Amino acid sequence: MRAEVIQTLLDSGGTIIDTAPSYRGSEGVVGDLCRDLGVTGKSFLATKVRTEGEQDGLDELNESFDLLHTDSIDLIQVHNLVDTDRKLTTMREWQQEGRYRYIGITHWRAGAQDALVPVMENQKVDFAQFQYNIEERSAEKTILPAAADNGVATMINVPFGRGRLFNATEGKDIPEFAEEFATSWGQFYLKFILSHPAVTCVIPATNKPHHMVDNAGAGKGRLPDTKERQRMIDFVDAL
Ligand SMILES: NC(=O)c1ccc[n+]([C@@H]2O[C@H](COP(=O)([O-])OP(=O)(O)OC[C@H]3O[C@@H](n4cnc5c(N)ncnc54)[C@H](OP(=O)(O)O)[C@@H]3O)[C@@H](O)[C@H]2O)c1
Repeated sequence: MRAEVIQTLLDSGGTIIDTAPSYRGSEGVVGDLCRDLGVTGKSFLATKVRTEGEQDGLDELNESFDLLHTDSIDLIQVHNLVDTDRKLTTMREWQQEGRYRYIGITHWRAGAQDALVPVMENQKVDFAQFQYNIEERSAEKTILPAAADNGVATMINVPFGRGRLFNATEGKDIPEFAEEFATSWGQFYLKFILSHPAVTCVIPATNKPHHMVDNAGAGKGRLPDTKERQRMIDFVDAL
């Protein structure tokens, strides 16, 4: 099933797989599946580091290469801003050596993620990962404009509010005006995110191949314009 999800992602033109040492064995699972499918190096692998301290942090960073079966990781991120300065120093050195293509920072709690902004402004990072969805739009005020101003690519996590957004629309059709650009609630929510000009990519989670097909559909066809985005917000706010 998980192999099918990854294969479906890649067959649909998607590339990004986001993992982390703290996701209960996820790096090893992703690494083994990509190796067994023969797609290591064909996907864009993003992982994180969250362990504090010099040596423990280095050990965690090194272990990711072993578990993902690669000498070069596309994106390494400081997880939830733990030990940020020390981790970014190591990441920059290893980026120079070609072990990382890109380095970044992440958070996921909307109430805490504004702390990403000074790091984006004062340290050179390539990516910032944070929460943004049609219900939790506080990133529009600070982080998304800061990312655009500082040339930082954005990776959006928790796009469905951890699945909660589907509860509100269960049994309901998407509104007629949205049928021009979406065929499902999954695509409605993802296209809302992708149509923000400062969003680079989005990482919905699923363990179901048919949801992967659905979500990959958000990468195709046109995106809503500014007026349609407002109609989407009004529709969801009124539910
Ligand atoms: N940096 C951080 O600290 C941090 C924190 C949280 C998350 N993240 C990243 O963000 C990713 C996504 O966040 P998340 O897992 O919290 O939540 P999410 O993507 O907002 O929601 C996932 C939920 O949506 C459901 N779903 C997915 N596609 C669907 C579809 N097309 N139709 C109906 N239901 C659908 C999934 O169920 P099924 O499995 O049944 O499809 C799952 O229950 C994570 O995998 C992780 O990579 C990072």
